[in-house]
Amino acid sequence: MTCPADGRAFFLLDLMALFHLVDFQTPYEYLGHQHPQKALHMCGIIGYIGQKNCVPIILEGLRRLEYRGYDSAGIALVSKDSLSVEKKAGKVSELAKHLGNGSSTLSGSLGMGHTRWATHGAPNDVNAHPDWDAQKKIAIIHNGIIENYLSIKTKLLREGHVFHTDTDTEVLAHLIQSMYERGNDLSTAVRLALSEVDGTYGLVVMSVHEPDKFIVARKGSPLLIGVGDGENYVASDASAIVSHTRHVVYLEDGEVAVVTKDNIETTTIDALKVHKTVEEVTLELSQIERGGYDHFMLKEINEQPETIRNAMRGRLLVDEGNVKLGGLQNMMGRLLSARRIVITACGTSWHAGLVGEYMLEQIAKIPTEVEYASEFRYRNPLMNIDDVVLLISQSGETADTLAALREAKGKGSTVLGIVNVVGSTIARESDGGVYIHAGPEIGVASTKAFTSQLTVLALITLMLARARGMSQEDGIVLAKEIASLPDKVQHILKNTDQIKAIAEKYKNAKNFLYLGRGANFPVALEGALKLKEISYIHAEGYPAAEMKHGPIALIDENMPVVVIVPRDGIYDKVISNIQEVKARKGRIIAIANEDDTEIANMAEHVIRIPRTYGFFGPILNIIPLQLLSYYMAVARGTNVDQPRNLAKSVTVE
Ligand code: AGP
Ligand code: GLU
Repeated sequence: MTCPADGRAFFLLDLMALFHLVDFQTPYEYLGHQHPQKALHMCGIIGYIGQKNCVPIILEGLRRLEYRGYDSAGIALVSKDSLSVEKKAGKVSELAKHLGNGSSTLSGSLGMGHTRWATHGAPNDVNAHPDWDAQKKIAIIHNGIIENYLSIKTKLLREGHVFHTDTDTEVLAHLIQSMYERGNDLSTAVRLALSEVDGTYGLVVMSVHEPDKFIVARKGSPLLIGVGDGENYVASDASAIVSHTRHVVYLEDGEVAVVTKDNIETTTIDALKVHKTVEEVTLELSQIERGGYDHFMLKEINEQPETIRNAMRGRLLVDEGNVKLGGLQNMMGRLLSARRIVITACGTSWHAGLVGEYMLEQIAKIPTEVEYASEFRYRNPLMNIDDVVLLISQSGETADTLAALREAKGKGSTVLGIVNVVGSTIARESDGGVYIHAGPEIGVASTKAFTSQLTVLALITLMLARARGMSQEDGIVLAKEIASLPDKVQHILKNTDQIKAIAEKYKNAKNFLYLGRGANFPVALEGALKLKEISYIHAEGYPAAEMKHGPIALIDENMPVVVIVPRDGIYDKVISNIQEVKARKGRIIAIANEDDTEIANMAEHVIRIPRTYGFFGPILNIIPLQLLSYYMAVARGTNVDQPRNLAKSVTVE
């Protein structure tokens, strides 16, 4: 593949204006899942219909769902006369306080609650769910993204609808209303509305028009029905209702159900009846919360095929060999005159930035530098209005990165972000950027955020390269490779037995070395950080060639050395480094391609991974290192999800 012709003019870097919370299409969607509990989903749903007062049941259910991380919560009750909705930004405790901590007069036998992980519209009281239609007669709660909400909203605005939130979800409420007003019953109105929707949903609808039922629907975000005696529940996962019933009906993608207190009728979206079986939930609550995995970190490692797809969904245009990251027209002037990109971040996000440097320089031919945010903020960097500063942060709250943003902004640079948490401080203070849509990352050691950050960097790189003259043909080659990454990650994730065995063998090692060259040097750094963070074994990442400049003195038969050695242009160089280590009896653990027939003669262990295009390799190469650090930590009995001394978001200096 030929790289684009050189040229200094920056084409339109059509980066997403995500952080302006401007309405734009950030199309992306979940994927169908084999088992609802292992699905990736954003936030929490609980509903009750029966004889009891639903308010305490809903609040308890929302508290059970808190473990996922969320930014706001709300509750709605419906009776034949009224729809009551209370919702608050912040924790469920804020909502409970708002409801008088149990003293509230709010009560009823049909109601639902939601914990939101915002994707469209800042996390605040207004944008929280439940939301309602224009007449406040239909209430909905929704997990997922309505990808084509803008086009639906435009049509409804022309029909005179007035919206009161910035969310994609509200559009669906109005669409259901418009279908209902055509004379359809509620379930038909919901099905007709959903037939116009692109995107994903775990959806619960109730209405004063038919105050004896829920209409629930699932596409790409899990939803189940808890079966009781003269009462029924709806939830996004069993943890919210398992204290009331272990009998559940799992909805599958494309199914819609009408749930009354005594009956459940399931159909397809086209009203074809579907027979459902009632299943028994056997997992304990703590296991349910982790989606059946032993730790959040393992759950999040295994979510990566889906989260990488979510980072590119609706953005990667394979047939055009291009990328659409939404409109950023009001930023183009500054971006066009940019003379360099400075990437700044901390920790794992800084490692992602180092990979991004290779992508942007080698594929898009853009001068790029990477700085620790904690250094950048104090060294009075020579920045000016011609610079674009790219801040990478999962939490969007890291103090050093935020300070770097303000430093760069103060010097007149354009600041863009690559962030996971919608509405976070870095997101809000950036001039624009791209959300990675990895969903809440609960494990302190970052895994899925890292690969989603790299995926977004690959998208930005392809978009820039194409804007700077890369041919469509070359763009299609890269786009196809990016599109193939989730399946390749899935393939690697199957190989846990070998990695578990290696972890068992080296769990008492005192030191580890991680070696890589080029874009795999940051992978060596990230692999070493993962091991340090959760197993407390000292580990160091190093450029493979640098070994001979000192660290090689550390090598002996007690030193495990992980070497990332894909069959790329510098393969032979890395093999030489492996030989140097081997000559000193180092214990080689190689991360190598499946078709590499030479490596087995040199390495004690070979963990095989599929081939990919060089600079996208880190997205695959990190997976076995995440698993290795996880199994080492488990073997050593450390607290995998909350390692000692660490915080998920370092909001202090
Ligand atoms: C990564 O496993 C660590 N938890 C840590 O290095 C983290 O990447 C760093 O604190 C940056 O956090 P951020 O991405 O939320 O800014
Ligand atoms: N896209 C919806 C919103 O931003 C739902 C988000 C969620 O899944 O919690 O409100």
